[in-house]
Amino acid sequence: MATNERNIVLTGFMGTGKTTVGRLVAQQIGWQFVDSDDAIVERAGLSIPEIFTQHGEEVFRQIEREVCRSLAVQQAVVIATGGGMLVDAVNRQIMLDSGFVVCLMATPAAIESRLTGAEATNRPLLQHDWIALFNSRQEAYNMIPHQVDTTDKSPDEVAQEIVNLWRNA
Ligand code: S3P
Repeated sequence: MATNERNIVLTGFMGTGKTTVGRLVAQQIGWQFVDSDDAIVERAGLSIPEIFTQHGEEVFRQIEREVCRSLAVQQAVVIATGGGMLVDAVNRQIMLDSGFVVCLMATPAAIESRLTGAEATNRPLLQHDWIALFNSRQEAYNMIPHQVDTTDKSPDEVAQEIVNLWRNA
C-alpha cells in the first residue's frame, strides 16, 4: 500500500480533540472521517453510556476490539479512536500496522475545561477519578511514535501539525 493511502489514526485521552481535529484533517486532505465510538454505537444499537450501564465496560471493550479490526482494514480514512482503544496492546499494534498513528496530548487542566456538560455526561469514565486513569495510561500513549501537544492550540493548528507530520513521514 502506498504510504499516502495508509489510514491516519488519532489516539489520546478523552478531551484531547481527536474527533474535532480528525474531521479537520479529513477535510483538508479530502479523505473520509470515521469515529470509532460512532461505529461502536452503530454496532451495539445503544449509546456509549447505555452500553456501560446495561452491559458493563468489558462488553464495551469487546465491541471496541471488533471495531478496531474492522477499521484497520480500511484505506485512506482518518480514524478518531476512543481514548481507551489503543491502550490495549493488541489494538495498538493493529493500528500501528494499519496506519500513521498520532497521539494527541493535553494537560489535565485543559482536558477538564473542554469536557463540560454533555461532553462529560456522555463519557462514563469521567464520572469517577479520571486523573488516576489519565496517569495510568501515559505509558501506553507514550508508545505511539508521533505525539502532538494540543494544550493552548486551536483545533485548526493541531490539524495542520498532524497533516505536516504525515506529509513529511
Ligand atoms: C473512553 C473514551 C471515549 C469512549 C468511552 C471510553 C476511554 O472516547 O470510547 O467513553 O476509555 O478513554 P473519547 O476518547 O472519544 O471520549
